[in-house]
Amino acid sequence: MERTFAIIKPDAVAAGHIGDIVKIIESNGFTILAMKKIRMTDAAARNFYIVHREKKFYESLVKFMTEGPCVVMALERENAIRTWRSIMGDTNPATATEGTIRKLYGTNIERNATHGSDAPGTAADELHFFFSTADLL
Ligand code: RTP
Ligand code: MG
Repeated sequence: MERTFAIIKPDAVAAGHIGDIVKIIESNGFTILAMKKIRMTDAAARNFYIVHREKKFYESLVKFMTEGPCVVMALERENAIRTWRSIMGDTNPATATEGTIRKLYGTNIERNATHGSDAPGTAADELHFFFSTADLL
């Protein structure tokens, strides 16, 4: 079993797609270990995406991630990290495979509906960024 960290981003929450995306997650065999709806502060978004601080899109990304509530989740499954990223599809909805979450619910390369950790180390860091150890038992 492996754990990953997922976000339903503000665009998908505002568009009323929480239920649709949770349905896809559960029908793909994930257990939702923990889940909460939050509004990221500016400081939280800057810190969460700190790896992208030198990128041109950083300020815009921080603004997007703080524009409204999002849903953060701890997901568990075999190969959870790779499987969740595959179900999400490419970062850019325009090039994402048909039927993936970003193709279905994303708008553009920034407003792309969901987030998923990209490796075991980042998954552990990101899970503990939003959840306490007791949330993840
Ligand atoms: P994520 O971290 O959100 O799961 O997405 P990812 O690995 O597929 O993409 P990453 O390169 O880590 O980028 C993080 C998020 O920044 C926004 N982005 N905007 N305007 C742009 O060119 C651009 N590129 C990336 C997206 O919201 C992306 O998910
Ligand atoms: Mg990423």
